[in-house]
Amino acid sequence: MKLLFAFAIIVIGLAVVFGTPDAWNEYKNKHGKKFNATDDAQRKKNFLATDAIITKHNSQKNGTYKLEHNQFSDMVDYRTHACLSPVRDQKQCGSCWAFSAITPLEFARCKKNGTLLALSEQHLVDCEPYDYGCNGGWYTNAWYYIKNGALGSAKQSLYPYTATNTTCKFTSSMVGAKISTYGNLQPLNATNMQLAVQSNGSISVAITVTNSFFYYSGGTYNDVACDNKTIPINHAVVIVGYGAANATNYWIVRNSWGTGWGQAGYVFIQRGVNKCKIEQYPAVILSVV
Ligand SMILES: *[C@@H]1O[C@H](CO)[C@@H](O)[C@H](O)[C@H]1NC(C)=O
Ligand SMILES: *[C@@H]1O[C@H](CO)[C@@H](O)[C@H](O)[C@H]1NC(C)=O
Ligand SMILES: *[C@@H]1O[C@H](CO)[C@@H](O)[C@H](O)[C@H]1NC(C)=O
Ligand SMILES: *[C@@H]1O[C@H](CO)[C@@H](O)[C@H](O)[C@H]1NC(C)=O
Ligand SMILES: *[C@@H]1O[C@H](CO)[C@@H](O)[C@H](O)[C@H]1NC(C)=O
Ligand SMILES: *[C@@H]1O[C@H](CO)[C@@H](O)[C@H](O)[C@H]1NC(C)=O
Ligand SMILES: *[C@@H]1O[C@H](CO)[C@@H](O)[C@H](O)[C@H]1NC(C)=O
Ligand SMILES: *[C@@H]1O[C@H](CO)[C@@H](O)[C@H](O)[C@H]1NC(C)=O
Repeated sequence: MKLLFAFAIIVIGLAVVFGTPDAWNEYKNKHGKKFNATDDAQRKKNFLATDAIITKHNSQKNGTYKLEHNQFSDMVDYRTHACLSPVRDQKQCGSCWAFSAITPLEFARCKKNGTLLALSEQHLVDCEPYDYGCNGGWYTNAWYYIKNGALGSAKQSLYPYTATNTTCKFTSSMVGAKISTYGNLQPLNATNMQLAVQSNGSISVAITVTNSFFYYSGGTYNDVACDNKTIPINHAVVIVGYGAANATNYWIVRNSWGTGWGQAGYVFIQRGVNKCKIEQYPAVILSVV
């Protein structure tokens, strides 16, 4: 799966939101959490977002269950979010780049529209002129094509996945979403990527896959083999959350190899150390039409 990187880096600044310090300090004391200034700002933002969800839920009189803070309140996990479609399978086609491009677009469209609509990877495989169909590509090229070439992304239902290179069948009547703005995030800045995940739900990333990755089944992936600079980046995936376990920070990464692979289709990859080069080419969809 050859990947090409063709667009200039656009650094996207994401503001940190400040809120009630008391609840946050109480929470940290209760759970024995201590962070440096950078981490504290991010964790606090996560905590406040969770706090809003909990307060809203518990204020609804019809609720039959209650929520409360626990040790996970400062982490982010969109795996069960209503705007994240079920994990898909690219099959024997090097179209990872198309799957990596479509998930954040579906998520952004759903956040705006309120309902999830499945969009078409096959549209990109067949029609996107800057990449190589089943032989590889880049998610940012796909977004460029959707925004400026096709003027929209086809609905999955009208342009279903075949895992083959076929001739382009796209017509404008198939469009289910349009991109307004997207960009590359600052490379090698995990904190900034966390902010983007927090704000935007999912971000596209490229990684180097080596042998052990194919057989990953659980835990935080930290093989040194994929850090090797002589092995090129060869896969594209999507970050949908982050957390910490067993004294290691991780990204929650959505793959496109079906739910039978990894943790129901997901992998935890070590965060903050550019593991498998995952922090090299992060990109995000900022707005949809
Ligand atoms: C803050 O702590 C995190 C996690 O321990 C670490 O990765 C990061 O480098 C630290 N940042 C600073 C500015 O010390
Ligand atoms: C409870 O009521 C709120 C509106 O107050 C509504 O949005 C929510 O869907 C209801 N939940 C259930 C479980 O009925
Ligand atoms: C959401 O999308 C559906 C189907 O594309 C459309 O009919 C509806 O008007 C959209 N709703 C909003 C709030 O944009
Ligand atoms: C698929 O199409 C691309 C051009 O978009 C071409 O480079 C590639 O060789 C084709 N692959 C197969 C398996 O036909
Ligand atoms: C990394 O991103 C954070 C959050 O956007 C920002 O405050 C910080 O300045 C960035 N670090 C560098 C080295 O640019
Ligand atoms: C992404 O995050 C930025 C920064 O908070 C925000 O301005 C933008 O509306 C978000 N876009 C989506 C699609 O979530
Ligand atoms: C943490 O360690 C436990 C026990 O070894 C393991 O079951 C779990 O998968 C680990 N979690 C992560 C995210 O690494
Ligand atoms: C990196 O990969 C190259 C090519 O596969 C290999 O020859 C080399 O031994 C690897 N280096 C390390 C440190 O594993």
